[in-house]
Amino acid sequence: MPRRLAVLLSGRGSNFEAIAEAVDSGAIPGAEIVAVISDVPAAVGLERARRRGLPAFPVDRSGFASRGEHESEILRILEEAKPDLICLAGYMRVLSPEFVARHRGRILNIHPALLPKFPGLHAQKRALEAGETVSGCTVHFVDEGTDTGPVILQRTVPVLPGDTEESLSERILVEEHQAYSEAIRRVLSGGVKSP
Ligand code: GRF
Repeated sequence: MPRRLAVLLSGRGSNFEAIAEAVDSGAIPGAEIVAVISDVPAAVGLERARRRGLPAFPVDRSGFASRGEHESEILRILEEAKPDLICLAGYMRVLSPEFVARHRGRILNIHPALLPKFPGLHAQKRALEAGETVSGCTVHFVDEGTDTGPVILQRTVPVLPGDTEESLSERILVEEHQAYSEAIRRVLSGGVKSP
């Protein structure tokens, strides 16, 4: 029975690409990507999806009068795609409580910090500024908060002397690309129970 994945993204989509590669190589057994949705029509990640022949759905926020209407359209696409898991991969909008409730336990997110430290924007910069010696990434279930849901797995990287926001972000990103597929695999195999 194939396991259906939807991906929501707003930007370059390198995590999406890593997931797609893991699907193609069989590293996430039985998985298929059934929809790639973006609130940013020009997102590089959408183009990456098209190049892979995957269903790519631009849902421009500015085309809708309200957040609710925008989300309704995304929910409609998800209703048709029937994903088992919805993977947020650089999706830059906070989902409404109604959206989360509709898909509770099925939504995953990746964050470039060791949550609960540094939720929200500019996590890598704030880890540097706080003088952390270790940082990393977290894959977690999404709840109503911002980067607050139950943790599925974390990977650490050292913060090195002379690190900049860019160098630390790149080091973390390498781990993100491994971590997301591993987390999806664990959830789909039942090794991690959804909340
Ligand atoms: C990643 O750092 C991810 O942790 C954060 O947004 C970034 C997305 O990068 N949520 P990409 O679009 O997957 O390349």
